Amino acid sequence: MPSLLILNGPNLNLLGTRQPEVYGRVTLADIENACRTKARNLGIGLDFLQSNHEGVLLDAIHAARGVHDGIILNAGAYTHTSVALMDAIASVALPVIELHLSNIHAREPFRHKSFIAPVALGQICGFGAAGYGLAIDALLEHLQGGA
Ligand code: DQA
Repeated sequence: MPSLLILNGPNLNLLGTRQPEVYGRVTLADIENACRTKARNLGIGLDFLQSNHEGVLLDAIHAARGVHDGIILNAGAYTHTSVALMDAIASVALPVIELHLSNIHAREPFRHKSFIAPVALGQICGFGAAGYGLAIDALLEHLQGGA
């Protein structure tokens, strides 16, 4: 059975109270519960992690090799700054879906640049917490040879 890693970057632990007009009122714990329920129903493995530290995210991407079949990454603000995350993704040769709750292309110009996009399978953004479920479906579709 496929196993996925869902990785969340800085400030996403504050979901629910953080700028609800942008990110909604759903907490990261709510999102994790929904993802775990979905994974159980699909019969797939799932690890779910959040860190505010770039190095911890890098270590998690490295450690995913040989353990997980793909990664869903909401890198938060590191999306727009981190060459290191881009290099890590390019190095592990695992399919990665870039995820954002908000539509980063409709926001400030500095959010339009993503260091993740060139090394990602694809990007899902603008669908709020529902994006996590969409990303699981898209990654499974890819792993099963569909997309
Ligand atoms: C975000 C978008 C980023 O620009 C921002 O820095 C975040 C959250 C999102 O999920 O919409 O922290 O990744």
